[in-house]
Amino acid sequence: MASAAVVDAGDAPEPTVRNLLDQDSLKWVFVGGKGGVGKTTCSSILSVLLASVRQSVLVISTDPAHNLSDAFQQRFTKFPTLVRGFSNLYAMEIDPKVENDDLSGEGMEGFLSELTNAIPGVDEAMSFAEMLKLVQTMDYSVVVFDTAPTGHTLRLLQFPATLEKGLEKVMELKNRFGGLLDQATRLFGLGDDLNEDAMLGRLEGMKDVIEQVNKQFKDPDLTTFVCVCIPEFLSLYETERLVQELAKFEIDSHNIIINQVIFDEEAVESKLLKARIKMQQKYIDQFHMLYDDFNITKLPLLPEEVCGVQALQNFSRHFLTPYKPALKRGTVEELESRVSILKSALQEAEAELDRVRKGKQAA
Ligand SMILES: Nc1ncnc2c1ncn2[C@@H]1O[C@H](COP(=O)(O)OP(=O)(O)OP(=O)(O)O)[C@@H](O)[C@H]1O
Ligand SMILES: [Mg+2]
Repeated sequence: MASAAVVDAGDAPEPTVRNLLDQDSLKWVFVGGKGGVGKTTCSSILSVLLASVRQSVLVISTDPAHNLSDAFQQRFTKFPTLVRGFSNLYAMEIDPKVENDDLSGEGMEGFLSELTNAIPGVDEAMSFAEMLKLVQTMDYSVVVFDTAPTGHTLRLLQFPATLEKGLEKVMELKNRFGGLLDQATRLFGLGDDLNEDAMLGRLEGMKDVIEQVNKQFKDPDLTTFVCVCIPEFLSLYETERLVQELAKFEIDSHNIIINQVIFDEEAVESKLLKARIKMQQKYIDQFHMLYDDFNITKLPLLPEEVCGVQALQNFSRHFLTPYKPALKRGTVEELESRVSILKSALQEAEAELDRVRKGKQAA
């Protein structure tokens, strides 16, 4: 169990995601964070990396604005599809709001809308639970979830509690108003000939699914949540909220990925870049202070997007080997490079000035 790996006193956990690859008991990996920070990129790369050490991997997008298709440059559907170039990596995109096929049928819809009235969000939770049940029968070694921006994810993770509350409410109504039972029986689509016991059986069955999923999500051997963020105030704030909520739901979390880090290697003298680097460093230090028991992985901001399997694979090395800037500030090499860049910039500016002056004289 990687989470129990012994860390020497004073040693920070390794700044990579290797712990996730080493923990071969892991079954559910959630990847979440604020909008646009790189959740889809990170979950795609994590699934690619996991595919190299596990027998079979499924990456699922639960964000209604799917973009796994963009990241892998391949169209995915609500059924697992083999990712091109792999023999054991599958991807699917589901919309938690759209009812699962298993849940269709008039009785079930009625039942769901009744429950939704009692407890908002329960329909979403139900189809998520059904999806999990289905995925479980598919027998992948590990499932990676590319989740929707934070608020939405937390609601989904809350679903066992949400569902239980919904069920309790229905039971309570049933107990209080005996006459309602007939109506409820119709809502559940059980038909006139079915009795109270059958209905209770169905509710109990659902509770079993909930409890099973709940147990798995709260087991750190099986489930972990990877927080993706960027080194800015709002993202730090949001991450703290996320980490606290996860702790409240007893969901394990010990990896933070700080994406879009600008490393101080640019020999160019850009005031803007320098200011951004300084600002980012302030928040990176705070991340390290707040989460000294987390594996914090820093990823460089690239000049281009991370699109397609090749780009994902190239970028994946930063998940396992801490990024090292090509040039280190203050070294002879860096100063030489800076001087030569400044010299050629000066030459260019002088030539430009010359041209402009000549043009002015001609006019
Ligand atoms: N380190 C990086 N350097 C450059 N581009 C990046 C980096 N990380 C992600 N990107 C690009 O930024 C865009 C947003 O990333 P991504 O889709 O992974 O974010 P997201 O958190 O899933 O967004 P959303 O909340 O919209 O789902 C993508 O075009 C991606 O290729
Ligand atoms: Mg995304």
